[in-house]
Amino acid sequence: MKVMAHRGYSGKYPENTMLAFEEAAKTGADGIELDVQLTKDGQVVVIHDERIDRTTDGSGWVKDYTYEELKKFNAARVKGDQFGFQPIPSFEEYCVWAKNQSLFTNVELKTSIIYYPEIEEKTIALIRKYGLEDRIILSSFNNASIVLCRQSDETIAGGFLVEKYVDNAGVYARTCYVQYYHPNLEYLKEEHVRSCSQNGIGLNVWPLIEEEDMRRMKKWGVNSIITNYPDRGRAVADED
Ligand code: G3P
Ligand code: CA
Repeated sequence: MKVMAHRGYSGKYPENTMLAFEEAAKTGADGIELDVQLTKDGQVVVIHDERIDRTTDGSGWVKDYTYEELKKFNAARVKGDQFGFQPIPSFEEYCVWAKNQSLFTNVELKTSIIYYPEIEEKTIALIRKYGLEDRIILSSFNNASIVLCRQSDETIAGGFLVEKYVDNAGVYARTCYVQYYHPNLEYLKEEHVRSCSQNGIGLNVWPLIEEEDMRRMKKWGVNSIITNYPDRGRAVADED
């Protein structure tokens, strides 16, 4: 079972910042999950919400700021004042860093609340620029975004994120030529795991917090767990 750090090591560090990604790598995580949105000037940026209010010291919509404006806000604010200043990373900045790591990355395209035209192409262009194609899984709750990505570049893996569940998850992913199913732990049943395994689809399950749930996922044979605590995940994954 692989361990993916959800928004980086977000249990301890400010989510979706380079600090959280670097600290996740230090725990021995196999991969990092992050979220991307698009700025006013069409830059792919790493941030979970469509607005910057919850995680930074600013206010307003990501889509209404240029990247030059956006990077002046402090994304460490989500954890109070203990981590100084951490800017919102551009996805390109992340790729430059990831190129020299052995980690894989799950890039979640946030296209369900706001649909950002061409975010799929822009994200793929950066992945190709840094030669990361074989270490990326693209995912989205807007499953059409992933179908578009797969049509645009079949060398990059895709995953369908679902809020609850799809009963015939394996058939759903396979018939759309997508390799992974990303279910919410709360609604995951063993029959979904069976459906995926029968159809050659890997499961990347989120959000994992408790070690007993991590152990259950390991027993069920999932591909990876997506957790805010990659240190816990690493320890469970390495247990005999
Ligand atoms: O990709 C799994 C998980 O990150 C999806 O939910 O809201 O944390 O982006 P959210
Ligand atoms: Ca996410």
